[in-house]
Amino acid sequence: MDQSAPRPATTDRPFDVERVLAELTLAEKASLLSGLDFWHTQPVERDGETLVPSVMVTDGPHGLRKQDESADHLGLGGSVPATCFPTAAALGSSWDADLLRRVGEALGRETRTHDVAVLLGPGVNIKRSPLCGRNFEYFSEDPVVAGDLAAALVDGIQSRGVGTSLKHFAANNQEADRMRVSADVDERTLREIYLPAFERVVTRSQPWTVMCAYNKVNGVYASQHDWLLTTVLRDEWGFEGLVVSDWGAVRDRVAGVAAGLDLEMPSSGGRTDAQVVAAVRAGELDEAAVDAAARRVLQLVARSLPALRSTGAEDDSFDIDAHHTLAREAAAAGTVLLKNEPVDGAPLLPLAAPADVAVIGELARTPRYQGAGSSQVNPTRLDDALTALREAAGTDLPFAPGYTLAEGPADDRPADELVAEAVATARGAGTVVVFLGLPAAYESEGYDREHLDLPADQVALLTAVAAANPRVVVVLAGGSAISVSGWRDAVPALLVGWLGGQAGGSGIVDVLNGAVTPSGKLTETIPLRLEDTPSYGNFPGELGHVRYGEGVLVGYRWYDARRMEVAYPFGHGLSYTTFAYDDVAAQVTGSGADAAVRVQVRVTNTGAVAGAEVVQVYVGDPVAQVQRPERELKAFAKVPLAPGASRVVAFDLDARDLSYWHPVLRRWVVEGGEFVVAVGASSRDLRAQVSVDVDGEDVTLPLGELSTLGEALQHPVAGPVVRAGLDGATIDPVMLAMATDMPLAVIADFGLAGLDRGALGQLIEAANG
Ligand code: BGC
Repeated sequence: MDQSAPRPATTDRPFDVERVLAELTLAEKASLLSGLDFWHTQPVERDGETLVPSVMVTDGPHGLRKQDESADHLGLGGSVPATCFPTAAALGSSWDADLLRRVGEALGRETRTHDVAVLLGPGVNIKRSPLCGRNFEYFSEDPVVAGDLAAALVDGIQSRGVGTSLKHFAANNQEADRMRVSADVDERTLREIYLPAFERVVTRSQPWTVMCAYNKVNGVYASQHDWLLTTVLRDEWGFEGLVVSDWGAVRDRVAGVAAGLDLEMPSSGGRTDAQVVAAVRAGELDEAAVDAAARRVLQLVARSLPALRSTGAEDDSFDIDAHHTLAREAAAAGTVLLKNEPVDGAPLLPLAAPADVAVIGELARTPRYQGAGSSQVNPTRLDDALTALREAAGTDLPFAPGYTLAEGPADDRPADELVAEAVATARGAGTVVVFLGLPAAYESEGYDREHLDLPADQVALLTAVAAANPRVVVVLAGGSAISVSGWRDAVPALLVGWLGGQAGGSGIVDVLNGAVTPSGKLTETIPLRLEDTPSYGNFPGELGHVRYGEGVLVGYRWYDARRMEVAYPFGHGLSYTTFAYDDVAAQVTGSGADAAVRVQVRVTNTGAVAGAEVVQVYVGDPVAQVQRPERELKAFAKVPLAPGASRVVAFDLDARDLSYWHPVLRRWVVEGGEFVVAVGASSRDLRAQVSVDVDGEDVTLPLGELSTLGEALQHPVAGPVVRAGLDGATIDPVMLAMATDMPLAVIADFGLAGLDRGALGQLIEAANG
């Protein structure tokens, strides 16, 4: 589609949304509800005057992809040069909200420089399976870390006077069949796992827009899902912005307008505008729904105009060098040191002798730093690790590619020749740094991965190199968990830089050299096997449906519930220093829906270099009416500490942090009793644990004829009555066990527990009264 059509000129008249809305005809209002082209909203022009200017929105999320001439949403066409910051997989692994805010500010500045009103991101879909081809664009398998970090990013971007689009709402957790599949997921799982990251960002940061997902949720397209788009998003969470469709997600535009989908993108060529007008005229769609959607488009335009009209110095350019430096800092911060075991008495990292290093692996020279699809940025420059290592060492370190990549330079040599060259290069080097990872074709928007493994030629290379020189450091590149099974024992040091953006190469070298102490932690579990993953067997679904059969047991919640070994647990990440945790305390105030817990811990840097620890707070609720995960992340803080320095960190948990979504009562409840608060360096490196007693809410379920004997015995009013009836009878314990799940109506019909139908009716009335 041609983007060269000039953006209609804007006048400097103040843009009064209500005045403009009142002036528009039904057809004009309907025209606002779909795009002008691929990236612009529609203007309204009358008699040569622009009543409503058009504004531009564009991808997102970790850099600007502003297309000039040809437009597409698959990242196929070119775009203006922009800083390619680390992808969400890397940014998330920093667990550093302050850093994300700063990255957001830089993104916002670039967005503004290019006269774009909304940057289409961030994406906060949960990494349900490591196979999702688009996981690199998402933050975590956990909604707390995803939500907190995305909120910081949104705050940063929006602080520059431009908007964001929180996406893809909701339950868009795979690429396979993404435009049609129905995510079949129960409400508790939605509320506890798939919605809270969106909720956190909406309630804290009010993104200007939310983008609906392509898929269906329980049989209804997200683009026309009234419960999602209106009941939850607006009525419950108080969302004040505009809902935009994902590009091409609209199936029934009229149903979408009624459900709360304000803007369809891209252009429908006027087809759906006409449908909206016809539906209003036929009495099938309330004009008030059109007004509401048009008003939100006008509000979006109104809040975009100050930045678009402003011509201050900061609006015409951005500091390419400063943004590259920030991208480098972020890449280093998102790097996770998975393993660093001693060889000959000392760990290999940081590199003791940077000039005595052999560099192996095509990825050192041809970095994979972003993913394919709509998020693909045209970077302002590109660092590779080989050059950065050589620069840092001040010498021309030996290099051998070891394997080829489709995206790398052509090399016709057979694989065994490449491996032999790499072995010869590695042999005798002080340390060998081997760069491995997923080739671009392995993961992308639009399709999912088929397995978790590295390519076989890379594993063969590593095995041969490690046999020749055991002092091997492996650096992994990829957008989501990569299996390390079968080869990690052969390498003493291992780190993952994800898809680290345009400065990923230099950022990772900062960590290798010790210029930066690693402080990243995993926001997703690295499992031992694909077959261990929670959605295995239920991913990516079949015949148009994907069943979220693992329920709330996503990510670490699953591995913990099943006591399964993993390669590296959620929250794991090593440092070049060590941290001690002391004086953990938790204090409860209030009760029920007002309960709160203050958690405190003293963290001390006990090593020799400065570093930062990500302190993680997990909560477990061992006894409840529903099965709860063993522990769930509820808060975290990144704490920088000089060697020997110590700090008390405090976290305030509220009732929501203790509660679960009650599937019968259909609300959040804090069920009273013991809660276990654990503080640690990862989900499986808990340094201290305290139990607290919380006075809960009344979660008594209404009693009915089909309530069971067991439920009646638990009931505060009915329980004593039924128990008294049972005490009078001599009941065999086996019989009693069998009767526990019998409905009261059957108990009454059998004349058990002193009940008949009449007495049962009275009991139910008294219990529910
Ligand atoms: C993606 C969105 C993106 C949009 C516009 C879609 O295919 O799912 O994330 O913002 O295209 O490029």
